[in-house]
Amino acid sequence: MRVLVTLLLAAGAVALVPYQQYILAPPSRTVRPIAVRLQSGSLSSATALLDNSISSKQSLTLDASTASSVTYDFGKNIAGWVNFNTSSSDGSVGFTFTESSLWISSEASDATADGGLDAPLVFNITGAGHYAAPNKKERGAFRYLTVVNLGSTPLSIDDLWVHFTAMPHWADDSLQKYTGWFHSNDEKLNRVWYAGAYTNQLVTIDPTRGDALNFLGTINSNSTVDGTLDWWLNTTITNGTSTLTDGAKRDRLVWSGDMAIAVPGIAVTTFDLISIRNALDSLFILQNANGQLPYAGYPFNELGIVSFTYHLYALIGVGNLYHWSGDQSFLDENWLQWKAGLEWALAQIDNTGLANVTASADWLRFGMGGHNIEANSILFYTLNVGLELARNQNDSATIDRWSQLAAGIQSAAVPLLWQPDVGLFKDNETTTLAPQDGNAWAVKSGLVTNASQVIQISEALQARWGQYGAPAPEAADAVSPFISGFELEMHFMANRTVAALTLIRNMWADFMLDDPRMTNSTFIEGYSTTGELHYAPYTNDPRISHAHGWATGPTSSLTTYIGGIQLLSEAGATWAIVPQVGDLTDVDVGFSTSLGGFSSKWSVEGNVFRIEIQTPKGTTGTIGLPLPGNHTAAIVTGANRKSAPVRADESGRYWVKSLAGGVHSFVVVGL
Ligand SMILES: *[C@@H]1O[C@H](CO)[C@@H](O)[C@H](O)[C@H]1NC(C)=O
Ligand SMILES: *[C@@H]1O[C@H](CO)[C@@H](O)[C@H](O)[C@H]1NC(C)=O
Ligand SMILES: *[C@@H]1O[C@H](CO)[C@@H](O)[C@H](O)[C@H]1NC(C)=O
Ligand SMILES: *[C@@H]1O[C@H](CO)[C@@H](O)[C@H](O)[C@H]1NC(C)=O
Ligand SMILES: *[C@@H]1O[C@H](CO)[C@@H](O)[C@H](O)[C@H]1NC(C)=O
Ligand SMILES: *[C@@H]1O[C@H](CO)[C@@H](O)[C@H](O)[C@H]1NC(C)=O
Ligand SMILES: *[C@@H]1O[C@H](CO)[C@@H](O)[C@H](O)[C@H]1NC(C)=O
Ligand SMILES: *[C@@H]1O[C@H](CO)[C@@H](O)[C@H](O)[C@H]1NC(C)=O
Ligand SMILES: *[C@@H]1O[C@H](CO)[C@@H](O)[C@H](O)[C@H]1NC(C)=O
Ligand SMILES: *[C@@H]1O[C@H](CO)[C@@H](O)[C@H](O)[C@H]1NC(C)=O
Ligand SMILES: *[C@@H]1O[C@H](CO)[C@@H](O)[C@H](O)[C@H]1NC(C)=O
Ligand SMILES: *[C@@H]1O[C@H](CO)[C@@H](O)[C@H](O)[C@H]1NC(C)=O
Repeated sequence: MRVLVTLLLAAGAVALVPYQQYILAPPSRTVRPIAVRLQSGSLSSATALLDNSISSKQSLTLDASTASSVTYDFGKNIAGWVNFNTSSSDGSVGFTFTESSLWISSEASDATADGGLDAPLVFNITGAGHYAAPNKKERGAFRYLTVVNLGSTPLSIDDLWVHFTAMPHWADDSLQKYTGWFHSNDEKLNRVWYAGAYTNQLVTIDPTRGDALNFLGTINSNSTVDGTLDWWLNTTITNGTSTLTDGAKRDRLVWSGDMAIAVPGIAVTTFDLISIRNALDSLFILQNANGQLPYAGYPFNELGIVSFTYHLYALIGVGNLYHWSGDQSFLDENWLQWKAGLEWALAQIDNTGLANVTASADWLRFGMGGHNIEANSILFYTLNVGLELARNQNDSATIDRWSQLAAGIQSAAVPLLWQPDVGLFKDNETTTLAPQDGNAWAVKSGLVTNASQVIQISEALQARWGQYGAPAPEAADAVSPFISGFELEMHFMANRTVAALTLIRNMWADFMLDDPRMTNSTFIEGYSTTGELHYAPYTNDPRISHAHGWATGPTSSLTTYIGGIQLLSEAGATWAIVPQVGDLTDVDVGFSTSLGGFSSKWSVEGNVFRIEIQTPKGTTGTIGLPLPGNHTAAIVTGANRKSAPVRADESGRYWVKSLAGGVHSFVVVGL
């Protein structure tokens, strides 16, 4: 219905992207539960409050003195303020929240702090009417909401809804206004792409309701309600009216590392760049005179923790924002601070050519010091981002210096840290531990150029996969959906497409969506290799966030490698479309930047590959056509001209260069 109505709107209205039915963001900010999960005690008409029966004019009645309760299920993770209408004139009602079904309880919510479970949200009824949670009692993420009668009289509720608060800067009815889409013949991949998009929406918050780290500074976790911890959200973490954070329930802080995965995902789904900008600005405001950037934004920065890698991730964030936006004034304004930031990191390069890391805080892995391969790969990557920016800024002295330092890292890392017999880098020269993060980053960063080493790394990491995904031995028994996002990209870069798709299907779809303890809509921050929802760095399992932007790696990877759309310069002024087919037969992908729309729609049938691409007028690019069958093919172009037989290059592709922006179609017939 929505699609039809929109098509009928006058010209000038923004057309909706296709595949709206997959979008998990709600159509309006008023969200009601869709199912009853659990009932206990004495009560009637629990279903009266469900979304599809609210017009029935019935009420939920919770009898007194039995702590009777109903647990409602919203069918997906949501965020916001509880609202309800009651016809009772007195009494007391409690609400508890949880993302995972594991922590459903009528006595406590899941956790935002280390010390225990969070308190219920309690309302004292002083008369019939409408009650709404105070602003600071916004709950950042929950799928289940339990209503419990805490009073000594029966309680009647006529209506129960949540005012959805994520994406605060978007109009109430436009939360589904995506600029990107993804569709394939594999429903698991489709669901993963949209869950990634939605996760990044849920972690985009009103910056005046940041920081659920109640143990920090003046916020004191000792304030308890019946043995549970009180909680509230009222810390202003950035300027502006929206900001990108790490997690929806917690931390609700700006973390640059998390942004390395979330930002490309946002760019190809909602193109919500302002929330990224506000987050980055909040980090650069905190930059030290010596160039060093904080581990995380306010108020976490007040702990004074320094992280070499998160420092670099903040610099990468600026590079990413410039890459997707092409916003020259943003880069001009930040360039001197950016340079000072990179110089702080470069000062740690010693006579080996590698940085000796002493600021070892990272994504909560251990042992990230010395000549660490992850840190040095990220430094190599950041130097290359810096070279792009320095070229833009015509800063030739800097270009020369940084090129030499980058080459130095590259030539030092392999002799010092590569383990040819294992096919993986070691963490540093004092260990044989082969980390997931450093090996993924060694390829992602372009530090490793030898194709057979790239393949070795991809195969060796794949050989370590367990039932629940790709392990990170550098963080005890953890599976990190963050670092696995980089690993995933590495398998695509190695052109091991089926391995990459298998990782998405097993880890993100079968486990992270379909396991009944998950939200089936947003991606969890971390868990154990045994599939327990225990994340090694944390002592308190209910504290784990089930909506973490750093876990959304597949969204941008599917667009970039399966759709194949790669922006080679800012906002896509130049581009390459290099689709990887794997075991798929039908794919339709697109997104927009400030220059216009990019799309790639392809299919495979026997030995015929068909593709139609669209790119903005005024841009130029290249397509790398996969040649099916025996690597000789005839190419039929849009004008129905058939080429003489062509041969594939060693990576199995035929390249058509210097294409002008616009629509192009190709049919590749294997011979
Ligand atoms: C509800 O009333 C009780 C008892 O008077 C009081 O201790 C509590 O602070 C009140 N709670 C709220 C949320 O107003
Ligand atoms: C609940 O109260 C609100 C605000 O007064 C009102 O708009 C809404 O219609 C009420 N819901 C029902 C089901 O009566
Ligand atoms: C908080 O709890 C800790 C541990 O029980 C205690 O040492 C500390 O004094 C308490 N702080 C306050 C402000 O009550
Ligand atoms: C935030 O809420 C807490 C708990 O109610 C309160 O103590 C504190 O003063 C509030 N802070 C701000 C900035 O409003
Ligand atoms: C907002 O911007 C002002 C001016 O740059 C700055 O002083 C302040 O620290 C910023 N606030 C936050 C939370 O970043
Ligand atoms: C080197 O790596 C090992 C394994 O990760 C770690 O235990 C050790 O602490 C690291 N060395 C430094 C200096 O961080
Ligand atoms: C790294 O620097 C620290 C501090 O200066 C030093 O103790 C350590 O030996 C250095 N590590 C290496 C591998 O050079
Ligand atoms: C760099 O040089 C080019 C060519 O002279 C010029 O168009 C551009 O504005 C310069 N960029 C900056 C940031 O000064
Ligand atoms: C590429 O790596 C392989 C495997 O480690 C090695 O045998 C080969 O010599 C390397 N090639 C070059 C050109 O370095
Ligand atoms: C993967 O394919 C791309 C595009 O054809 C090619 O440029 C690249 O060298 C290949 N990578 C490896 C490791 O073979
Ligand atoms: C998970 O969500 C999808 C829609 O994204 C839905 O089709 C499926 O039924 C849900 N699975 C469960 C077990 O609820
Ligand atoms: C490809 O075709 C050629 C010529 O028809 C044939 O000799 C060769 O065996 C084929 N190669 C493969 C891998 O099928």
